[in-house]
Amino acid sequence: MKRLMTILLLAVWVSLPGLAQHEHQPRPSPTEAPPIYWVLVAIAVIAIVWFMLWALYGKMRPSRMTTTSYHALGALVIIMTLFTLVLYIIPAQQAQELPPTARAWDWKPGEVLQDPTGSGLSGEPYRGYLVYLANGCIYCHTLYLRPEDIKTGWAEGARPDEVSQIGDFVRYPFTMLGTQRDGPDLTVIGRKIPDMQYQIDHLVDPRRFKPQSVMPSYRYLSERELRDLAAYLVSLGNDPQKLRAGVAPAPAPEDPKIAKGKELYRSLGCVACHTIDGSRSTGPSFKGLFGDEVEVTLPDGTTAQVTVDEIYLKEAILQPGEKIVKGFPNIMPSFAERVTESDLEALLEYIKSLR
Ligand code: HEC
Ligand code: HEC
Repeated sequence: MKRLMTILLLAVWVSLPGLAQHEHQPRPSPTEAPPIYWVLVAIAVIAIVWFMLWALYGKMRPSRMTTTSYHALGALVIIMTLFTLVLYIIPAQQAQELPPTARAWDWKPGEVLQDPTGSGLSGEPYRGYLVYLANGCIYCHTLYLRPEDIKTGWAEGARPDEVSQIGDFVRYPFTMLGTQRDGPDLTVIGRKIPDMQYQIDHLVDPRRFKPQSVMPSYRYLSERELRDLAAYLVSLGNDPQKLRAGVAPAPAPEDPKIAKGKELYRSLGCVACHTIDGSRSTGPSFKGLFGDEVEVTLPDGTTAQVTVDEIYLKEAILQPGEKIVKGFPNIMPSFAERVTESDLEALLEYIKSLR
């Protein structure tokens, strides 16, 4: 009986570090622990020391035990105690808290993100992050940027100052970095495409926007899961403080043509490559584009300076390969088969309205 007790106690002692891990919550570092944690640690230490003294000097020693095996048991207990100290307790106390960077992902359970486009959609980034982990996005996407990834196809639109640092990840409860890139890195996807509706549409049917995409359709997710996942994607690469401050719903454009163009901008997927806030993405921004001077490469390899007018815009949408904007790759698909004359006009009105 006593031996059984000893074995049981030893088993609990060995598995303590494992039991201490919570399943769904990030483990707080000892520096953040409440006083009750230290009270429990003190009780545990006193109990263990007391047990060892009792085992050595008390009536615990079984009569059949030889002196040698008794010493062996004592040695075992000492070795295990040392192991626990060296492997768990000392490292845990020496562990330093990494300061989070200003852009570190910082969304707590229950917090809600409002769609920055002012569409009225909202979702919980934290829940979306769990959906992300549970549905294997991690098999094809990474969430870290190395210096050599900048300006490659893996991280279109990412700037050198967006290279990942350890402090960016300190608030993530589980690892989500990923190892393989069948799809692009998503570190700054929320800055690139801050549009929840587009993210949902793309998740439901990736081939609607990218006919060659090997990304599976996620239409089996519930509406809420899709919204949370889209909120998570929009939270990536955007300042959490700014997103939290929220956005005033953008007033619907007065002109129905502009409103239609704005809708087409998303539903045709222009949003995946063109921003409307002036920042560079896979393609040039639409902001201030109309009337601007751009340098383009013609099919014969010569360059020319052109002014952006309606004719240029139409050609850019219908035959994007005819004039390639300098500094950008020739990857824009032609929309000749996908837009009607009135769609084209609406898109033009929308681009013209973005001063
Ligand atoms: C089998 C591999 C695969 C899996 C699994 C996968 N993706 Fe993708 N993903 C891709 C590829 C390839 C692309 C690039 C083509 C495209 O945009 O569809 C992509 C693109 C994306 C984009 C960028 C869209 C754009 O327009 O630029 C986002 C966002 C994205 N995936 C999110 C997700 C999320 C969230 C999950 C999990 C629910 C997921 N992916 C699972 C392969 C995958
Ligand atoms: C796959 C990414 C991609 C998509 C989707 C895309 N574009 Fe582009 N677009 C580009 C790139 C890259 C360039 C610059 C190279 C070039 O001129 O082809 C560009 C250039 C343009 C230009 C010329 C811009 C300038 O600065 O002169 C216009 C206008 C344009 N796109 C409109 C659209 C519209 C409208 C849509 C949606 C109907 C769209 N694009 C969809 C990638 C894309």
